[in-house]
Amino acid sequence: MKLFVYHTPESTPTDLLPDCAVVIDVLRATTTIATALDAGAEAVQAFSNIEELKRQSNSWSADKRLLAGERGGEMVKGFDMGNSPLACTPKVVKNKRLFLTTTNGTRALQRVEQVPQVITAAQINRQAAVNYLLETQPETVWMVGSGWQGDYSVEDTACAGAIAQSILQQSDVSKLKLFGNDEVIGAIALYAQWQDNLLNLFRLCSHGQRLLKLDGDEDLRYCSQTDILDVLPIQKEPGVLVKR
Ligand code: MLT
Repeated sequence: MKLFVYHTPESTPTDLLPDCAVVIDVLRATTTIATALDAGAEAVQAFSNIEELKRQSNSWSADKRLLAGERGGEMVKGFDMGNSPLACTPKVVKNKRLFLTTTNGTRALQRVEQVPQVITAAQINRQAAVNYLLETQPETVWMVGSGWQGDYSVEDTACAGAIAQSILQQSDVSKLKLFGNDEVIGAIALYAQWQDNLLNLFRLCSHGQRLLKLDGDEDLRYCSQTDILDVLPIQKEPGVLVKR
């Protein structure tokens, strides 16, 4: 297995695809996706475009769908819910399909939707992603951070580092064999620096600051926990994620 880290969807190569893509948007889309599926949502269908989401969700029975999403961190007007993972309780999401649009996470998913194996990861389900990679051993893996409108987001790269570090610890693969680009080395170093203090990192970083202005500290606390859910979102058709 060769791991590559890309800080943003825009920095992924355009002329080739890997065997597996791991989409990461710790604050908050992939944390929300994992939480919703763990709480019994039937699927999460991701859209970068709000109008397309409305069009496709219209063909779904009203009692089986939830319109979820944000722009700039705030709930989209007229939707059932925003993008807070804490809103994804079994009472709200069980047996429903979440039609989800977010500023960056859903764009990252769209960028890699043609990859044969697509999973999503966040800090809360890091070990589930590691288990999947160790079990399926894809030859090439892209870990794609969602960033913020084309810019780097430190929390996504820290999570990629957490996954890479865990693979190194749980297999006998050498660093030389595993590392596909220098970003992997940087991601592991970043995670090593902050692993005992992720909440502080999230409160410092630009999107954490944005969420704090929207009263998001509870979300930051939740998103900063490691390995609390044993759930792996996997793409079953382009844009549609289900529990593996
Ligand atoms: C995104 O996709 O940009 C994020 O998930 C935004 C958010 O925190 O809701």
